[in-house]
Amino acid sequence: MKQYHVAILGATGAVGREMQKLLAERGFPLASLRLLASERSAGSTVEWNGERLPVAAADRDAFRGMDFVLGAAGSEIARKYAGAIAEAGAIFIDNSAAFRGRADVPLVIPEVNPADARQHRGLLSNPNCSTIITVTAIHALHALSPVRAIVASTYQAVSGAGAGGIAELLAQTAGKQATPRVFPHPIAYNLIPQIGAEQEAGYTTEEMKMQQEARRLLHQPELRVTCTCVRVPVLRCHSISATLRFAHPVSVQEARDCLAKAAGCRLCDDLQAGQYPMPLTVSDQDLVYVGRIREDLTDACGLTLWCCGDQLRKGAATNAIQIAELLTGK
Ligand code: A2P
Repeated sequence: MKQYHVAILGATGAVGREMQKLLAERGFPLASLRLLASERSAGSTVEWNGERLPVAAADRDAFRGMDFVLGAAGSEIARKYAGAIAEAGAIFIDNSAAFRGRADVPLVIPEVNPADARQHRGLLSNPNCSTIITVTAIHALHALSPVRAIVASTYQAVSGAGAGGIAELLAQTAGKQATPRVFPHPIAYNLIPQIGAEQEAGYTTEEMKMQQEARRLLHQPELRVTCTCVRVPVLRCHSISATLRFAHPVSVQEARDCLAKAAGCRLCDDLQAGQYPMPLTVSDQDLVYVGRIREDLTDACGLTLWCCGDQLRKGAATNAIQIAELLTGK
């Protein structure tokens, strides 16, 4: 079996560390693994799969000989190195928002639009974390009856803001470091209804991603999405309450039967037994859990559901590695 030289750009961050773990866990056919981060981490080592691997500072030469580069370092760094990665002939699968709007860069969830990945020209984007979780939860329903509109509210864990977000919540709940640095307000014992800056008409960048990216993923350029994104004091796993408006009515039972078989999903829906997806039970897993499926009391063509997924895994690292697996034919 062919083996691949892989680099992680941003290997020491929250998503980069998860990528390291998942490459080993999924048995990705690795010829070598190169860990790249900032100057701050250069010279350190990490334990990976029973070995100690060095962390090097990223520079334009660091990508030579690589087959894949998994990007986990944010938009600015992704833009800085995309040219050098292309010159090195590596395929760049980037988790940042830097290239997601580009028509020539496929935006892919392997369970949803795998064929799009094959159009790549060396660069592919991982969608936004909440969008991956929501679209993974609803894509099978969309095949049952086209989704015309989504009304969503997200409950996003602090790890979505990287390792610094986790540290800030832990410090604040421990009564230390009360001054917010990563978030615009204290996050312990609070909810912050702002993720990203204002983009248009009172909506933030994070909220508009749900519409822009869901349109591309579902190949529905007219899809309407209205979204409120909220940062919550949860360590990992994003949760989303979504009301879907379909072209034709879908019953609760049809939706449950469909989701019980949907790729990438697990149905967890028994209100009387107190069973529904929650961050604590869904953490550290790759499936998106879906529950609380019920009729939309405002629209006969609507359904409301609740979904929850580990955004460091399916919302970021797992999805990126699944894209690499798709391209290797695994
Ligand atoms: P470092 O740990 O050396 O700062 P997170 O999103 O969890 O904050 O992680 C961001 C990741 O991006 C980290 O691995 C971080 O490395 C890396 N990073 C930050 N700045 C740079 C840079 N200039 N070049 C390469 N990697 C960077």
